[in-house]
Amino acid sequence: MTVTSEPTGAPGPTAALHTVPLEDKVRTLTGADAWSTHPLPAVGLKPLILSDGPVGPRGPAFGGGADQPPSLLFPSPSSMAATWDNDAVFEAGSLMGAKAAEMGIHVLLAPTVNLHRSPLGGRHFECYSEDPLLTARIAARLIEGVQSHGVAATIKHFVGNDSETDRMSYDARIDEKALREVYLLPFEVAVREARVWAVMAAYNGVNGARMTESRRLLTEVLKDEWGFDGVVVSDWEATRSTAASALAGLDLVMPGPNGPWGEQLTAAVRDGSVPESVVDDKLDRLVRLATRTGALEGATVPAPRPGGPADVLAEARDRLKALAIRGSVLLRNDGVLPLDTHDLHKVALIGPNAVKFAVQGGGSANVKPEHETTLGDALSAVLGREVEVTMTAGAFPHQVLGMLPQDRAVDPVSNDAGVFLSVVDADGKSLGDEHKPVEPFHFPILLPPGAEEVVLRTRLTLDRSGVHRLSVLGIGQFAVTVGGHTEIFEQLMEEPDFARLLLHTPSTAVPFAAEAGEVEVTVRLRPQAGLPHPVALLGIGYEAPRRDDDAELAAAVEAARTADAVVLVVGTGDEFERESVDRSTLALPGRQDELVDAVCAANPRTVVVVNAGAPVLMPWIDRPAAVLWAWFPGQEGAEAVADILTGAEPGGRLPTTFPAAETDSPVLATEPVDGAIDYAEGSLLGYRAYPNRGTRPLFPFGHGLSYTEWAYRDLQVTRGELGVDVSFEVQNSGDRAGRDVAQVYLESPGEPLRLVGYACVDAAAGVSTRVALDVDDRTLSRWSDHGWAITPGLHRIRVGRSSADLPLTAELRLG
Ligand code: BGC
Repeated sequence: MTVTSEPTGAPGPTAALHTVPLEDKVRTLTGADAWSTHPLPAVGLKPLILSDGPVGPRGPAFGGGADQPPSLLFPSPSSMAATWDNDAVFEAGSLMGAKAAEMGIHVLLAPTVNLHRSPLGGRHFECYSEDPLLTARIAARLIEGVQSHGVAATIKHFVGNDSETDRMSYDARIDEKALREVYLLPFEVAVREARVWAVMAAYNGVNGARMTESRRLLTEVLKDEWGFDGVVVSDWEATRSTAASALAGLDLVMPGPNGPWGEQLTAAVRDGSVPESVVDDKLDRLVRLATRTGALEGATVPAPRPGGPADVLAEARDRLKALAIRGSVLLRNDGVLPLDTHDLHKVALIGPNAVKFAVQGGGSANVKPEHETTLGDALSAVLGREVEVTMTAGAFPHQVLGMLPQDRAVDPVSNDAGVFLSVVDADGKSLGDEHKPVEPFHFPILLPPGAEEVVLRTRLTLDRSGVHRLSVLGIGQFAVTVGGHTEIFEQLMEEPDFARLLLHTPSTAVPFAAEAGEVEVTVRLRPQAGLPHPVALLGIGYEAPRRDDDAELAAAVEAARTADAVVLVVGTGDEFERESVDRSTLALPGRQDELVDAVCAANPRTVVVVNAGAPVLMPWIDRPAAVLWAWFPGQEGAEAVADILTGAEPGGRLPTTFPAAETDSPVLATEPVDGAIDYAEGSLLGYRAYPNRGTRPLFPFGHGLSYTEWAYRDLQVTRGELGVDVSFEVQNSGDRAGRDVAQVYLESPGEPLRLVGYACVDAAAGVSTRVALDVDDRTLSRWSDHGWAITPGLHRIRVGRSSADLPLTAELRLG
């Protein structure tokens, strides 16, 4: 693969820049607002537009509201890593870059390369793998793809942001060996190999220094040792100091326009505590970034690869579906898959995630998809009209309810669809009114001086009688009045923090019994004080009357009993897996385990599809006829699942170990103790730790079945000039074409097994392929006090289909 990552004419320090007044230079180093930087016309610098993120360019808006443009929603990063397919990920990056360029974005805030340290991590879905090499290679290809369209990738969060609890403040204590071998590796490869143009400094600290203030990691390691010539941008609101962060090597404070630099940094330069050359260096870097991304007058972005963005975008949906298929992991199959569609007349589609298929996780990595299909429609489309597909939820694990019905919620003042919002003072006098459409799900509301309450009103037409439920989101004291009856309650947040409030808004369900017809709904919120900005957040959701939990389970069993086959879709969703909060359990939410048991008992031809971003416990794993792991598969995910069930080869292999029990996880807890997280396990993460623990995982790292069979033989290993040359034969020994992921591991003296290479093999039935891989000296090396070195002694190269299925072994003396 050849990639042009160096743009034409990226300038070094610009003489003109240094004549710009100090105040103007410093102002440019803090964002102009949440998603853009200040222009600096004197040097031709235009505003740079920044946008999340790892599942596709969201656009410079947040919250899913009307101002957020539809975009392409990619499979979650764990799913992308599960492809183990460098070329496919490069193409995904290229599509992401093309879309970002089309949306006018210069800097994409992706990829996230923190590791799957604890399976409870709230952003697990947003990270690639527990393995640093797989993470590094997948991220590097994604970066190259994005940047091939003149859009900067931003690798994040540098470093040690592997969990969410107290993420703004904890200090990760990581020894140097683990830091180098595990946590820094993806960043190093991104800088040295993929030449990434931006790096995001994390909220947390590492070994005693906040990451926005870590001179050792930002300047000594990232810039001096690895030669990073791009921009270090802070995570949003992560900068807490002036001179310390400026001197450490942070280049751009986001968001703006306020922040700890501005006038304070100007003063620090004037009083000599920060040399002006430090400011100039940051500006040089910003100008270089602008040149690379076309935000400098006269600079042209490098010509995109042949095919051009328009061609890439035209095939977007097909590409996203192919990617989701390639990332889906077939965990078990007793032969029921692919479904033989000839003898099917009735298929029962069951499960909460069959009704509400989760295509993405929650938080800043969130995109409003430009296209989505329901699972029911996708399955009906592949099964044909003759097959009846029934739909039953079977369980209700969700706390956050759906949106108000678009066509049945009316602003009582304007009579348009939506709600009426007003902010009132202590006397009830309005300080500002606004009509809002039903979207977004919750509304940030600016509170003018004297604001006392926010009042939301809507007229809801109920289409049936029974117990309805509203969910109310926000923090403060609430009074919810429906049809004349008022419920009063309080929902508060300890140490209120706006980012957390936005990302993980507390919610309470308010049930009310009502007949079909119109009801007036009024929600009054007295916002909780203490947020740094005068803003309140208020949201509302709705759920129509439904069966109770027992009756729903019984209905699912009945649907299963009377069907020829069952597709049971269980899982989590953006309410359970999201930025800013870790999960508290690996168990499937609600009564889903019970649902799987009951449905499997009712129909042995049950295929379970797990729709989750991170491992869940599957105590029922042996009961279904097959289990397909679909991740959060992005906008084309429903079609991808339907295609796999009916014959498309599931290409995915697990990029992370699935534990059988919570306590089997080598690292579980995510709560800091006395403000610190001790990475006491060192480099022993995920599968590397299992041999010492005496337990077997439910599914090992690298596991995934194919629809055909594979045989491995004839491993040859020789010491080459720059590393070790490994080659072996892989045969498709089954009766249909398929794809396998051949995995190469190394056991060094005194070190556990670790991945050192992999290759995807596509082969027709019966065909044998010789796979050849180089493992370079650096990959063979470990970190010691003297730097990188190969441990002298007898090493073993092991090859196979997962970290626990390695039929070929060769020994080799090194060092
Ligand atoms: C997240 C970043 C994200 C930024 C901007 C932060 O809360 O940690 O990953 O890029 O917000 O949305």
